[in-house]
Amino acid sequence: MANKPYLFKVRDLEPHEAEKMKVFTGEKTGFVRIGPKGYILSHRFLEIGADIYNMEIRPSDVFVVTYARSGTTWTQELVWLVANDLDYDTAKSVYLTERFPFLEFSMMVHPTMIQRYLENSHGDEKKQKEIKMITSHVVKQVEEAPSPRFIKTHLPLSLLSPKLLDAKVVYVARDPKDVAVSFYHLCRSMTFMGWTGDFKQFWELFISDLQYWSPFFEHLKEAWAMRHHPNLLFIFYEELQKDLPGVIKRVSAFMGKNYNDVEVATLCEHLNVKNFKKNPSINNEQFKELGLTTPDLEFIRKGKSGGWRDYFDEEMIARTDKWVEENLRDTDLRFPSAE
Ligand code: A3P
Repeated sequence: MANKPYLFKVRDLEPHEAEKMKVFTGEKTGFVRIGPKGYILSHRFLEIGADIYNMEIRPSDVFVVTYARSGTTWTQELVWLVANDLDYDTAKSVYLTERFPFLEFSMMVHPTMIQRYLENSHGDEKKQKEIKMITSHVVKQVEEAPSPRFIKTHLPLSLLSPKLLDAKVVYVARDPKDVAVSFYHLCRSMTFMGWTGDFKQFWELFISDLQYWSPFFEHLKEAWAMRHHPNLLFIFYEELQKDLPGVIKRVSAFMGKNYNDVEVATLCEHLNVKNFKKNPSINNEQFKELGLTTPDLEFIRKGKSGGWRDYFDEEMIARTDKWVEENLRDTDLRFPSAE
């Protein structure tokens, strides 16, 4: 850990938990639990955790914070365009990953995997440069970046700066059944995660809170508790689905912007999943060539709510419902229905 104060205890996973997590074949050192809630992160988080916690927050910063696969990318593009006076030219010509860097990304890619990607590039210097850039420490780049900064993270609020809400934060939550399916596909196609199990195995870990950035409900509840804070906007993926213009208006008001109906309709079109899928500044297709993902990666996949029904049998539905019910018992957080 860097030489900065860090409050949180770091624990190893229990041996039986670590064993189960070995199905993530891209993570070569394994996982740790951080802090009282035991958030699970890959081992390399220890290189950046203190820097992230102690990061200087600027009032002009804009964070999109989510549990993975909850609609982060969709919201990032929406937020970035709203904040930047609908500058489609820049949005289309600069990768979202550059406009809106992923704070803890360096923890995801193990040095062994970086070495493998470099070797597989067969001396192609351009590719090697890209691999090194993508896998370098984002935190340092963010620290030095000019304002306003736009930052994506899947870390829960408690692992970010205690001054986080001096900045603007948009938090997005999604029905966990859809998150599980979407996350499963992602973990299979990101070779640095390298999930090799089937969906049922993935889901077992997910509802045991044994996944990257889990426990899922603790993550959501931390943000839900802050939803009335003027600098935090809490939205649901299902709201984006049902009423995208309405969410654009809420985000605009939150960012101190005002757009007319035509501008909102144009933004809705830009954000439509069909256009998103083929938008090269969004869809991460550039990762394929570098070997960071399998050739069949669909970073922007179905883009629907309720797709989980094709993946869950009766027993899985019952157990997930019980897990959800138990976790919602002490909170008024409820997921809007998908219909
Ligand atoms: P599915 O895998 O269910 O399709 P994140 O950006 O947090 O990784 O979330 C990814 C999920 O959001 C994926 O869900 C993806 O397809 C969906 N998504 C991304 N862009 C979208 C859009 N413009 N409209 C609807 N869904 C979108």
